[in-house]
This record gives sequence, structure tokens and C-alpha cells, in this order.
Amino acid sequence: MSRLVVVSNRVSIPTGDAKAGGLAVALNDLMERQGGLWFGWSGHTSTGSATTTPALVQHGAVDYATVDLTPEELELYYNNFSNGTLWPLMHSLPEQMNFDRRSLQGYRAVNMRLADVLVPLLRSTDTIWVHDYHLLAMAASLRARNVTCPIGFFLHTPFPSPDMLSSVPEASQFIRDLLSADLLGFQTANDAENFAASAQRIAGAARLAGGGLQLGNRQIRVGAFPVEIDPHDFAEMAEQAHGNAETARLRRSLDGQSLILGVDRMDPTKGLRHRLAGYRRLLETRNQWSRQTTFLQIAAASRQDVDAYQTLRDDLEGSAGAINATLGEADWTPIRLISRGVGRDAIAGFMREARIGLVTPLRDGMNLVAKEYVAAQDPDDPGVLVLSKFAGAARQLGAAILVNPVDPDEIADALDLALRMSRPERQDRWKACWEAIKDASALGWGRSFVSALSRAGTEVPRPA
Ligand code: G6P
Repeated sequence: MSRLVVVSNRVSIPTGDAKAGGLAVALNDLMERQGGLWFGWSGHTSTGSATTTPALVQHGAVDYATVDLTPEELELYYNNFSNGTLWPLMHSLPEQMNFDRRSLQGYRAVNMRLADVLVPLLRSTDTIWVHDYHLLAMAASLRARNVTCPIGFFLHTPFPSPDMLSSVPEASQFIRDLLSADLLGFQTANDAENFAASAQRIAGAARLAGGGLQLGNRQIRVGAFPVEIDPHDFAEMAEQAHGNAETARLRRSLDGQSLILGVDRMDPTKGLRHRLAGYRRLLETRNQWSRQTTFLQIAAASRQDVDAYQTLRDDLEGSAGAINATLGEADWTPIRLISRGVGRDAIAGFMREARIGLVTPLRDGMNLVAKEYVAAQDPDDPGVLVLSKFAGAARQLGAAILVNPVDPDEIADALDLALRMSRPERQDRWKACWEAIKDASALGWGRSFVSALSRAGTEVPRPA
């Protein structure tokens, strides 16, 4: 069997201190079971000149190879271009986007340097799977270094429309770069379609039946591979954690009020400003929920060296304080905002306790929190998921209350509806959501991509 080589910006070493984001959580299981090589950034910087040899650690069946970035690389590649330009571009939020040519060059240089470090570790029979917007130039960089192994690429974020993409003219080169891969995977059919349309427009690729592209004599498969969670494991964790001291303390502090819960990285795409405004609108327009609800927003600080993230943090702390100051009472605090990370166990317990899971990103590739909230519920007395219609997860979780995440009135209406919802309706909606996720797994997601990649070179799609 071919060895799997995963390439991603974050590498989740079980014993290391790498931060687990959506990507790391989704990939851990596959790597632990299937084994292979996981290559990427160490999460650290080292001063001085860029090293050419990676640090190697073995854990179970997985070899982890990581490289430090220099502080300058971190600034240009990670802070400025990946998170200041590409992240808002991919989420179709141009007003949040910065662009400068030096960062673009730094980004491309890091993709090439990572390829330089990776190539000596590769075997000719490897299968390479590259992840996410940090590494858009990786497949092309590897091909330029004569790597002939099958290469797959998966984008964890949304992919914007061709018009949106053209707001960064330099991004057209990334489309050509990505076409060096054999399989391109996206979270939803809509993202895959956006990419294919751009590939047609920018690179002159021809569309093939069954979701493929033809470029010269090469065929590239393009498809949707929605990321999944392990719903049964999460359900068990939530049930157990619900009986733990941490959830018990939270429950006691609520004193019978309904808990509304948000769990996100503190990120401008997560719709947190509008979400707080929506809760405020609920309290201003439906006085009966004063003293009857508490909104707990866990927003773990993230990417704090990027200006937009620092501003967001200040804004949210300001608005949460303002809501509490103007609408709170001597014995009631409407909103609790936590900007520290909270353990997965505790979160699972809180989710089961929460009457409402409030997940309202402006745009999101998938949003695994929405799926986790569903998995965490007590089937007999489940809570209600209020979900942005612009999260990839909304394609599968249509039985949630779907909202426009920028409309505070719609969020307030949804909260009111959820708080008043009868138990039979909550059960019906929950069942439909659970049905949509219960047979999937993170491992199954990974395997389906890898197996599509192994077929990519052999199946010849027909012209559309
Ligand atoms: C999203 C991205 C991942 C990223 C994660 C955490 O899920 O798709 O690639 O790892 O956010 O962000 P960070 O910048 O801390 O890696």
C-alpha cells in the first residue's frame, strides 16, 4: 500500500503543543490508523537563516516532520498573506482583506521552501495530500521539483465565486498551481463548482462529466468531500462530561435559566459581532427573556498578531460589557464571554446543557461545532441548533433553524422561536439533524478522499 503523506500548515503531534483547529481534529484519526508522514510548520519560529532539515518525531505509526519558520516568514506567509489576504478572500469578505505584494512573494517563497524540505523525505510510491489555503502553491512546487506521485488537495474553507476571486488578480496563478494536483476536494458542491468555473475562466480548463477538468492532456478530478466528525464518540463524551463537576457548576450558576451557547475561534468570519447584536435585540424586544436566559460565548483568542483579530477582540469585549451594563441586573448577567480556550470535554458537556447552540458564521467551509452540538444532545430532551445558512454544515443540517448571520432581527427571532419550541418539535428537528451525521466519521471522510485520489489517475472522465 502506498504511504500517505499529509502536508498541512498545522501539524498535530499528539505529544506536542500544536493547537488543534478543525483541520487537525479531522485528520488525527486517519493518520493514527493509517500511518504515514505528516509534514508542515512546527508552530514555532527560530531566528537566523531558514533551516533546510525538518525535526522528526515518531508517534505510533506516524512520522511527523516539522520546520520552524523565521519571524519574517511567519509575518509574510502566515499573518499577512494566509490570514490577512487569503482567509477573507476565501470567505468572500473583501472588506476584511489586506493585500501587499511582498507578502504574496513571502507566501510563495514559504510554499517553495517547504517543498524543498519535503522532497528528500518522499518515496516514489507515496500518495501526497496537501491541505488548505496556506499551501495553494504546494502541488505546483512539488511538480516543479519532479515529484510524480499522486497529489490531492483539500480546501477546508469555502471557495469564492470567480468574480470575488478576481478581486485579487494575483490569485489566478493559484488556480493554475492547484491544477497541478490530480484531485481537488472542497467542502460543498458549491465550492467545487466555484473552483471549476474559475479554472475554466482563468486556465482554459474544459469541464468533464462527473466533476472533472481537462487541461491539455491531463485530467483533474474535482469533488465535494464534506468534513465529518465522530458523532458517536462525541455523543458519549458529552453524556459523560454532562455529569462532571465543570458542567454541574455551570448548571448551578444558571439557576434554571436557559443556556444559549456559542463556541468559536475568535475570528472575523464567525459572525460574532452580529451574533451579540442579535442577542441584544432579543433582550430589547422580548423582555420576557430577561433573567430567563444566559448567553455563554466561548471565543478562543486566535491569530492575535493579525490586526483584524485584535480589533475584533476589543470590539467583542466592548459589546459584551455594554450588553451587561445596559441590560443586566444586580443579580443577572446576560452574557458571559470567555476568550480563553476551553477543553473539548468541558465544551461537550456545556453543549448538552445548552438549550440553544448558536452557530452563525458569516461564511464557513463546514463548521464542525454545529455537528458537535447535534451529537452532544440528549435525544429525549434535545436543544435547538440555530445555524447560519452560509455555513457548509447548513447543507446537511437543514432541520436546524437557519438564519442570515448578518441580520440581528432574524437571529433574535430564531432565538425566541427556539426558546419557545415544544419538546416534540425539538425532537423532530434534532432527529433529522442526527440522521444527517450519524453514519459518517472523520476517518470515513479521510478514507473517501484518499480512495478517490488513488482512482484519480486511472478513471478517465467523459467530456461534458
Ligand atoms: C481553520 C483552518 C485551519 C486552521 C484552523 C485554526 O479551521 O481551515 O487550516 O488550522 O482554522 O487556525 P490557525 O491559524 O490557528 O491554524
